[in-house]
Amino acid sequence: MSSRLKALVWLSSLLVIAGTIALIVVGIVVTDDHPLSTLSPVGRQGRDIARLINPIFIVAGVVFFLVQGAVLALWWRYRVGGSDTGDGEHGFYEDDEFPDQIHGNDRLEIAWTIIPTVLLAVISVFTLVALFALDDVEASEEDMVVTVIGQQWWWEYQYHLDGDTTTAPDFVTANELVIPAGVDVALDIKSRDVIHSFWIPKLNGKRDAVPGRSHDWVIQADNPGRYRGQCTEFCGLSHGYMKMVAVALTPSEFAQWRDNQMTPAEAPAEGTAAAAGWEVFSQQCASCHAVNGLTSAANRGGAAESPPDDWDIYGEFNGGYAGPVITDELIAGAAPNLTHLMTRGTFAGSIFDLYLGAGDHIPYLELANQGTLNRGDLEAWIYNAPERKPADADGLRGMPARTGLSTTDIDNVVAFLSTLD
Ligand code: CUA
Repeated sequence: MSSRLKALVWLSSLLVIAGTIALIVVGIVVTDDHPLSTLSPVGRQGRDIARLINPIFIVAGVVFFLVQGAVLALWWRYRVGGSDTGDGEHGFYEDDEFPDQIHGNDRLEIAWTIIPTVLLAVISVFTLVALFALDDVEASEEDMVVTVIGQQWWWEYQYHLDGDTTTAPDFVTANELVIPAGVDVALDIKSRDVIHSFWIPKLNGKRDAVPGRSHDWVIQADNPGRYRGQCTEFCGLSHGYMKMVAVALTPSEFAQWRDNQMTPAEAPAEGTAAAAGWEVFSQQCASCHAVNGLTSAANRGGAAESPPDDWDIYGEFNGGYAGPVITDELIAGAAPNLTHLMTRGTFAGSIFDLYLGAGDHIPYLELANQGTLNRGDLEAWIYNAPERKPADADGLRGMPARTGLSTTDIDNVVAFLSTLD
């Protein structure tokens, strides 16, 4: 064997070993504590998935080390120039001597057919059990159903407190899915445009949001907390910037949050910066963004319509990219409802924290009172959103730039938004 070939064999062996060690280190050290890790679940579904992953990973690990170990052992045993005896009988060969060629071993071949078959059969049983458990959407203990609508590039949540998704929702919010901790909450996942995928890794598996379809899902968190998520189906330029947060509150906190979400906004007092901001907002922003009590469907360029009989409007691909669909006061169709923007910890598809220092140390219900507004990102977002988060080339998706606004206008709009708590 030439020295060049030998070096190559050594190098590839080292790479295999180094790669294996790196994988183990990454697997254990990095992912376990990551916000998007499935390895430290805090919800029923997340645990079901982890319970499936762990034994399979162990079995796969044993198989990996057996096979790789055999490869390395055989390579070492039969390496060229491994011994000076070089008679070929004990597996040692002189340089350039071609080894005896053998093939066919019934017992080995039957073994390496049967063992993987049995392994995969056992794994498939556990996989099916886990899949059926995850699909058990009847498990929901709450009447409430949240319709989750994927949009380019943010998430809309329509809360149906009585569980009837065929009537208008009680309130609508965006990006942060707030749920009571400890109970299963039913989700009804849809898309308004292209295929997205809803995923809060610590709480549950992925469920696709598909135009024209309605996917049932349940979500549950053991403890109050904020759990990050990410759209996991490529959905256009800003797919990577389509994040979300699931916020679990204690049942009494949830009731308090829910009652607040149903309160309409009030017009700012005349003569204030917030009132001037509302003037700008009503002309520049209200054609897309709903603020309950202040904007109306008429603001959005059409006569207010009563909700259609079939409220399942996002169940159908509604004309593609044709712009806002005017359906009800609560929903503009193309942009988040901002009625209680200040109660959220993030904005712009959850890519920016609304409060400095992430606000994770502030109780969720106190964010609007105690948090320090992340004014820099918010102003930059209002002024030129596409610069922070690419929209589509035709400007029909994503928030448009408002570079025509003066600094005073922006300050006033922020003053107005600050009243939305
Ligand atoms: Cu939405 Cu990717």
